[in-house]
Amino acid sequence: MKRSARVTLHPKALQHNLQQARLAAPHSKVLAVIKANAYGHGVLEVAQALQTADGYAVSCIPEAVALRESGTQHPILILQGHQNLDDLRIASELQFRVVIHSTSQLTFLDQLGDSKVQVALKLDTGMHRLGIAPQDAAAIFNRLKNHKNIDTDIWLMTHLSCADDLTNSNTNTQLDIFNHNTNALPASRSIANSAGILGWSASHADWIRPGIMLYGSSPFTHEDNGREYYNLQAAMTLSAPLIAIHHFNKGEAIGYGASFHCPHDMQVGIVACGYADGYPRHAATGTPVSINNIETHTVGRVSMDMIAINMHTISAKVGDLVELWGTKISVDRVAHNAETISYELLCNAGNNCTWQ
Ligand SMILES: Cc1ncc(COP(=O)(O)O)c(C=O)c1O
Repeated sequence: MKRSARVTLHPKALQHNLQQARLAAPHSKVLAVIKANAYGHGVLEVAQALQTADGYAVSCIPEAVALRESGTQHPILILQGHQNLDDLRIASELQFRVVIHSTSQLTFLDQLGDSKVQVALKLDTGMHRLGIAPQDAAAIFNRLKNHKNIDTDIWLMTHLSCADDLTNSNTNTQLDIFNHNTNALPASRSIANSAGILGWSASHADWIRPGIMLYGSSPFTHEDNGREYYNLQAAMTLSAPLIAIHHFNKGEAIGYGASFHCPHDMQVGIVACGYADGYPRHAATGTPVSINNIETHTVGRVSMDMIAINMHTISAKVGDLVELWGTKISVDRVAHNAETISYELLCNAGNNCTWQ
């Protein structure tokens, strides 16, 4: 159902951000991470905009099938791997590379008949989410290498848990564990997410896996100005019309819980966007928005389909569009004010709003 809040995709920004990933890791190939409907941006549209990537990474088989059916011939990595024999058959037929992260997945390989499948063996070097024990890597790698149903071009990979904190020593520990257990194995390697790409050159390896930076958001959560610092551009704008303008006296309260009191007589605008549209309910008073190219901020609590904004000394009329985040207001700043991360905001808004 069409609501007033809308999201707009900026394909050129996606291409620009891909170029920034290439500049940061010039010796690596790029797997664009477009899982979860491309972080809410629309998987087919994003894949189309990022055709110059060397491949894509998605979470699961259905996401990859949708991509293949759209006509892409690119390599596609399935980050969660296969969960059953059907998944594996589809992966073999449509030439997806599945992540092997647990020995329980190996049993399905013997049931593939004459078909072959491409795999990436994932080591758990400290994230403790998916991955085999690092000390088992060589043995499992060799078993895969000699398996009749496995394409001999096997990749090795791991995922960094703390790369978004440039002072955290876990990243070097993870890299050491990965290198120590895989150095002798002949394979392509993939380690770096966006934070690894921008902050840890030792993680670049053969294939980088940028996600959030492609969408124009900094992976370093403590930085409000990371987008500018890393020369990234917003791939999504979330905007909504102003639907009412009020003049309130000093002391009057606004919104649920009467949490904000006007500090002086002031003009307040009501914008048709709320948490039902993916705008974070926990965005505090003071979260930036932009109207007619002027930056102002929210006042009071976010409701289901409305927010109030400070329009003191701002001239605008009902119907004017307010940018909640996008080219003027970075989603990182909104995330910071809502004590969350841009990933969540982009997924929520992108998957809830009408696209223009
Ligand atoms: C295994 C894996 N690699 C790469 C990425 C991309 O991470 P980011 O969006 O932080 O660049 C993700 C995303 O969560 C992931 O799960």
